[in-house]
Amino acid sequence: MNAKDRVFAEILVRGPIPFERFMEIALYGPEGFFGGDHLRSEKGGDFLTSPEVSPLFGETLAVYVERERERIGQPFQLVEVAAGSGSLLVPLLEEVDVDAWAVEISPAARSKLGALLPNDRVLTELPDRVRGVILANELLDNLPMAVAQKIDNRWRERWVGAEDDTLHFVDADPRPEVVAWLDANAGDVPDGGWVEVQLEAQTWLRDALDRLDAGSVVIIDYGDTAENLIPRRRDGTLRTYRAHHLGPHPLDEPGATDITADVNFTALIAAAERKGAVIQLSRQDDFLADLGLRQRLSDLRHAELEAARSGDEMERLRLRSLKTEAETLMHPRGLGDFRVFHAIV
Ligand SMILES: C[S@@+](CC[C@H](N)C(=O)[O-])C[C@H]1O[C@@H](n2cnc3c(N)ncnc32)[C@H](O)[C@@H]1O
Repeated sequence: MNAKDRVFAEILVRGPIPFERFMEIALYGPEGFFGGDHLRSEKGGDFLTSPEVSPLFGETLAVYVERERERIGQPFQLVEVAAGSGSLLVPLLEEVDVDAWAVEISPAARSKLGALLPNDRVLTELPDRVRGVILANELLDNLPMAVAQKIDNRWRERWVGAEDDTLHFVDADPRPEVVAWLDANAGDVPDGGWVEVQLEAQTWLRDALDRLDAGSVVIIDYGDTAENLIPRRRDGTLRTYRAHHLGPHPLDEPGATDITADVNFTALIAAAERKGAVIQLSRQDDFLADLGLRQRLSDLRHAELEAARSGDEMERLRLRSLKTEAETLMHPRGLGDFRVFHAIV
């Protein structure tokens, strides 16, 4: 059975299914995009994330972790959720000596992480109690979500139905929790507009904060506040990626593409405020600059010139490549435009 057959089989028994259930099968089922033996988040994979662009990302975040350790003292733990290939954790741990755990649900990622960390440090869910930093890069955009559309000023849900051998969106009465989320977090959506309803992202954040005795939860992802997402609401932000490019319609090839949407940070701010956390929302370029990456970039530029002057071509190429990586991490219309959300306890 493949993921598409699994979706069809479930629809045959239950009738149309909510989009979050479709996404769960398509991404995390046994034949799902993250379910098989392919490691998705690496250079040869389907999307390129900041830690996969450069070890400078993990190295720079080490400065944040060190600051948090100075702020709250010992005991101190670092927990990376959605740790993927370990490309963030490895360079980070070379810079700062802390007890670290990785949380992953993808079997392929877990086996890679198992080669990097002791087995009891690779978990499928957060530890019961954490004192330190809980970090998640590009997790929340991948958590299953519902989909809604505003029609004649009222919310309708878009579920997934099947006809012949095609999956398509079907109209459904919105569930009360979906309407409550939309009313609180969607903002001023135009008629006909599509919204991804990120209840699971909120639940994940609440759970992380409940487990945190002191320290911070740091979420890095694409997306924006509800207000700033309004221009993207006409068609919504749901999309797929495959082999580093935008892929087909999300319903077309379940299991074969990543399915993702922009994170609504307004919903996360509301959830964290209710837990009494102090919140900061910044851009990735500003966040990394504050941790020293802009200075590092300037040092790399000077060092590259120096290497060129002294005729050390190998060194010049190495420095140039690092410099390009730092520029990519802070590109104002690319990764630099990601949001960094901290909830501090
Ligand atoms: C886009 S990848 C990002 C991987 C890595 N953070 C990076 O930036 O390269 C999303 C990852 O989230 C993982 N994931 C999804 N839901 C999860 C959950 N509830 N707990 C832990 N990991 C999860 C997936 O298995 C996948 O490896």
